[in-house]
Amino acid sequence: MSWWINGGVWKMMTMAMIISFVQAENPYRFFDWKITYGTISPLGIPLRGILINGQYPGPEIYSVTNDNLIINVHNELDQPFLLSWNGVQLRKNSYQDGVYGTTCPIPPGKNYTYALQVKDQIGSFFYFPSLAVQKAAGGFGGFRILSRPGIPVPFPEPAGDCTFLIGDWFEDDHKYLKAVLDRGHKLPLPQGVLINGKGVSFSSSLTVHKGKTYRFRISNVGLQNTLNFEIDGHEMKLVEVEGTHTVQSIYTSLDIHVGQSYSVLVTMDQPDKDYPIIVSTKFAAKKLLVSSILHYSNSRHRLSSASVHVEPPADELDWSIKQARSIRTNLTASGPRPNPQGSYHYGRIKISRTVILGSSAALVKRKQRYAINGVSFVPADTPLKLADYFKINGVFKVGSIPDKPRRRGGMVMKTSVMGAQHRDFLEIVFQNREKIVQSYHLDGYSFWVVGMDKGRWSHASRREYNLRDAVSRSTTQVYPESWTAVYVALDNVGMWNLRSEYWARQYLGQQFYLRVYSSAHSLRDEYLLPKNALLCGRASDKHTPFITP
Ligand SMILES: *[C@@H]1O[C@H](CO)[C@@H](O)[C@H](O)[C@H]1NC(C)=O
Ligand SMILES: *[C@@H]1O[C@H](CO)[C@@H](O)[C@H](O)[C@H]1NC(C)=O
Repeated sequence: MSWWINGGVWKMMTMAMIISFVQAENPYRFFDWKITYGTISPLGIPLRGILINGQYPGPEIYSVTNDNLIINVHNELDQPFLLSWNGVQLRKNSYQDGVYGTTCPIPPGKNYTYALQVKDQIGSFFYFPSLAVQKAAGGFGGFRILSRPGIPVPFPEPAGDCTFLIGDWFEDDHKYLKAVLDRGHKLPLPQGVLINGKGVSFSSSLTVHKGKTYRFRISNVGLQNTLNFEIDGHEMKLVEVEGTHTVQSIYTSLDIHVGQSYSVLVTMDQPDKDYPIIVSTKFAAKKLLVSSILHYSNSRHRLSSASVHVEPPADELDWSIKQARSIRTNLTASGPRPNPQGSYHYGRIKISRTVILGSSAALVKRKQRYAINGVSFVPADTPLKLADYFKINGVFKVGSIPDKPRRRGGMVMKTSVMGAQHRDFLEIVFQNREKIVQSYHLDGYSFWVVGMDKGRWSHASRREYNLRDAVSRSTTQVYPESWTAVYVALDNVGMWNLRSEYWARQYLGQQFYLRVYSSAHSLRDEYLLPKNALLCGRASDKHTPFITP
């Protein structure tokens, strides 16, 4: 449910309202969401799912650049719940990020009203439940931010605009999966792949009209697997990646790593037939595949499962790296503002600090753990952002994770927080010495993916960087025994989660918080704690700021 209220009506309502950063000039959209359990059967077998207003996947959020979104989330589960907004940058407002380190969980039977502004953003994203392994049960949905009227979009208005939430699927209850991890084991292999909550091939279809062009937004909302997306017989023109308009190259299939989002244009230029839309696992021990039907409105042809096949490239890795490098920013296209995306010359800015991040897996006290630079993240009893806000000592220590991988010393368990100065310009190198694909995400930001290659990163690797038109996004893959380098301008004060999107690894420690700090303590740089903020842990007896209307 969502509706509009314009600035004038809003002003009359502020007295009663809870939101402290009212910006009357931008429209508001209101959502009232009830989170419940309900039976879902993506692979035909009934399972306990997490529904939003009775829906699985959850309702899609439609918004326009700069909109204020007021989302009242009522938790009717039997356990704490939080939603986070993958790729949506909350400017100056990490309180609303909805991850363990920023926001108190919504207790069962209670509600919390998020107030987000989608400031200076466009593009395709998704939201998901961030606690425990609830993501394995649903609770996720698409999140699109459209351009404001009058801001040029570098392609004609499509005839339709559809979201595909794809992901691997485990045929187990989310509480069981959590218990497996809590006992120190790895998760079993996923049993299926889903497209918009459906895992049985040909159980869903999309009707299209011949000759028309559609925009498809595809997000990998799964727990771990890289997925390949293709539409039989059709080419895809890539137009947007996580908020950046790209050079419009043609692909016959796309690798989408866990946590990533892409938009493509597809023209229905083939004979009137039905065509399979195929999603299949990549870099996986077990090949899983599902397909849904692209149905031309005049088609009389029925698809049978015999018509679905995928031919993986001979060298999966080289093929995928090559594709990743070909994804670039269209420098002359507009983003959320009318000026071209290329007007910010990231390649000419002096790097103030280089951080090298390497993952590791180990048994700690005979339980499986994962770490970044030798530190396996453990949650504290109080959200780190609240500890910071109320100056509660002893919850975390800034600098509890080193800037480089540790050579020895094994793995330590800490509430790891890396300190950084507001306005620093960081080079982050993800060095992957493991044999699996990794996917990393940074909340609150997007970064330029300046380079990736096989082997070990060295200073000489900088010669390979794309300092002109690299894509700016919030989630990047790091190939097996390879590296990926990104640049990020730390222009957003707050406590931001940097995590593996491989969910079991995130849950078992492969994450930390980046505390972007400004000594100015100015409302220009960061908002106050929202007045309705839930308080918990050692912040339970504190008081939220009192704002006079
Ligand atoms: C819970 O919802 C009610 C309205 O149903 C709202 O007035 C209240 O502010 C919400 N609580 C929080 C903490 O946002
Ligand atoms: C880049 O965007 C411009 C401006 O909208 C457009 O005219 C051009 O075709 C795009 N170029 C590519 C290569 O996608």
